[in-house]
Amino acid sequence: MSLTEATPPAAPLRGAEQLQGLLEVLAERAARPLEEARALPGAFYTNEALYELEIEKIWRKSWIRVGRVEELAQPGDFIKHDIAGEPILITRGADGEIRALSRVCQHRFMDILADCEGQKGNAESFACPYHKWTYGLDGKLEGAAHMGKSNLFQRTKDSIALPTFKTAVWQGFVFVNLDADPAPLSDLTDQIEPRLGNYDISEWRLADRIIWGEVEANWKVGMENGREAYHHIGTHLNSLEAMWPAHMVDFDEVETSDFFFARMFVSPEAAGGQEDGHYLQPLLLPGAPNLTAYERSFVTVAGMYPGFILVPGPDATLTITFLPTGPTSHYAELDILVHESALSDPELTEKVKEYREWLSSVNGEDAKAQADVQMALTTRTNVDGGPLSHLEVAIQTFQRYLAKKLVG
Ligand code: FES
Ligand SMILES: [Fe+2]
Repeated sequence: MSLTEATPPAAPLRGAEQLQGLLEVLAERAARPLEEARALPGAFYTNEALYELEIEKIWRKSWIRVGRVEELAQPGDFIKHDIAGEPILITRGADGEIRALSRVCQHRFMDILADCEGQKGNAESFACPYHKWTYGLDGKLEGAAHMGKSNLFQRTKDSIALPTFKTAVWQGFVFVNLDADPAPLSDLTDQIEPRLGNYDISEWRLADRIIWGEVEANWKVGMENGREAYHHIGTHLNSLEAMWPAHMVDFDEVETSDFFFARMFVSPEAAGGQEDGHYLQPLLLPGAPNLTAYERSFVTVAGMYPGFILVPGPDATLTITFLPTGPTSHYAELDILVHESALSDPELTEKVKEYREWLSSVNGEDAKAQADVQMALTTRTNVDGGPLSHLEVAIQTFQRYLAKKLVG
C-alpha cells in the first residue's frame, strides 16, 4: 500500500476550499476494512471550515453531558457550562424541574453569569451584571430598572425570557441538547445500559472533579486518545501499561457508530488476587458491592459521542468530558464518582485525594501527548495519517461516526 493514496491537497490547511476534499477522504477511510484502516489526514484537526461543520452537524445536535443530578439537588442549585460557544446555565427550579437556559441576556447580550466565579452555586434569581435585568430560575424576566418609559418593554416584558434548551437525565448524568427537536437520549443509552452489567451509575456519587481546562488540541485528538489503549505502551508506559496492558483490551460491538465499548483487563502481575478464575483489579477506593468477580477484573470504557467517555471500574467510575473551544483546542474535565456505599468510609476524603493525584498525573501524560500531536498536525510535512493497528479499531469506528454525521 502506498501511503500517498487518497491524500488530500496539503495546503491551505485552513481553507474552505479544502473541505470537500477532506469529506471525500473521510468517506473513503470510513468504508475500509480494518486491515486497510488508516488515520485521517492532519488537516482534519486544523481546518476551520471542517470545525464549523462539526459544530453545526454534531455538537449542536448531540446530547452533551454537563454534570450530575446531585449537583442540582436543591431548588436554586445551578451549573454553568459552555457548549460549542453557547453559554449555558442549568438550574433546578422551585418546581423541581431541571432546565437548561442560555446565559445571554435578552437586553444587550451580556453573559448573565459573567461575574460568577466557579462552575456552580445556588441562587434565587440571576441579575445580569450589566444593567441588572433579573431572571428567575425558569429563565423568565422578573424585573428591570428604569424601563417604565419604554412602551416596547411594557408591551413585551411578560414574554421576555432566556432561551431554553432540551435536557435529559441518564443514570444521574445531566445532558443538554442545543437542537430544538433532538432524537431521544435513550436511543444511545439503551444500547449502552445492557452492556454495563451490574453497574448502575445512578447509585454512584460525584466525589471530586478535575477541571482540566483548555488542552491545545482539536477535540477529536482528545476523543481518539480516549478511545484506544495502544498508547499505554508509549505515553503511559510507566503508569498504566503494567496494570492495563494495551494487548489485554477487549472491544465489544465496535461496528456501531454512535458509541464504543471496551474492557481493559487487569494484568495477572498487577492483580490484587484471584476469584472464580478471574484476576481482580486492586482497589484504591472502597469497592462497589454487587459486582461479580468477572466485573472486578476489568475497567469498562464506554465512549458516547461526541465528547463523553464513561469509565466504570470496581472502585471508581470516572468520566471524561471533551468540549470543543476552537479548531485546535478543547476543554476537558474529569469526574471521580464513588459508589454510595463508600460515603460512610471515614477515610474516603483522604483516599479520593490520593486517587485525584494519581488521575491528574495520568491525565497530564495524555494532555501533553495531545498537545504534542496537535503541534505536529499543523506542520505541512506530515499531512496524512498512517495505518492503524487492530488495537485502534475504535479509531476507525470513530471515522464511521464522523462520516455518518458530516457526509451521510
Ligand atoms: S445586557 Fe443584561 S441588563 Fe443589559
Ligand atoms: Fe491515555
